[in-house]
Amino acid sequence: MQVIILEDPEQVAQHASQWVLELIAKKAKPVLGLATGSTPINLYKKLVKSHQEDQIDFSHVTSFNLDEYHNIDADNAQSYRSFMKENLFDEINIDQKNTYLPTCYQNENPRRQGLAFEEKIQHAGGIDLQILGIGANGHIGFNEPSSSLSSRTRLKTLTQQTLKDNSRLFKADEYQPTMAMTMGISTILDARYVLLMATGKNKAKAVNEMITGALSAKCPASALQLHEHAIVVLDKAAASELTHQEYYIWADKEHQKINQTYGFFL
Ligand code: GLP
Repeated sequence: MQVIILEDPEQVAQHASQWVLELIAKKAKPVLGLATGSTPINLYKKLVKSHQEDQIDFSHVTSFNLDEYHNIDADNAQSYRSFMKENLFDEINIDQKNTYLPTCYQNENPRRQGLAFEEKIQHAGGIDLQILGIGANGHIGFNEPSSSLSSRTRLKTLTQQTLKDNSRLFKADEYQPTMAMTMGISTILDARYVLLMATGKNKAKAVNEMITGALSAKCPASALQLHEHAIVVLDKAAASELTHQEYYIWADKEHQKINQTYGFFL
């Protein structure tokens, strides 16, 4: 894992945006894996700014989101489609026909839907760069603790902790779905690069477990230990419980020289 510790959430977003911008500049048909949650919002703001101020083109980009609530209409304000439209898709020139979320409605078979989503990813040539956040319980996407490390896109029931953590985003009278379709851990590991962003003290414990803990379904994010190109970008608060911080800071300085010369991607 490449662990990058930065000052604050602003720097984390800035760093992550450099990866995305390099990818879309380098590849003819880049495929981005996207995430929701509060953490990537600043990254999306940077991408919107790069489009508006520097005329960065997103028309050739295809995207796949990690997850979507079960049986929620795309135009429902709480759908992840709405989140992505508001924070990114409506603000850049991506062709929204090429933006995919793993939807599943009441009368659809979640197994079929999961398989169809996996096939779409394959058909697009696989995900080049998957953006991730992390739950306070170590989840990635909606792969809650105990998720199979070999899982693929499927329907998951959310844990009480996740429902509580995310309840801040729902009004008192608003229905909060308890199930979601999510890319599986294997789906995420198939991406060529994964970039996980974490900010804030409430992520510090999960971050330490992901990086230095045992590879275990107890902390689904620990599966990233198996990935050849996993980049973890943290602010100081999220890194505060991480052992060997000085090593990561030193190693990152060495990496920076290589990145400046050769770029981030192979
Ligand atoms: C949500 C999403 C995850 C996200 C996580 C953290 O439940 N399914 O993809 O990474 O929780 O969210 P936040 O960034 O708001 O802390």
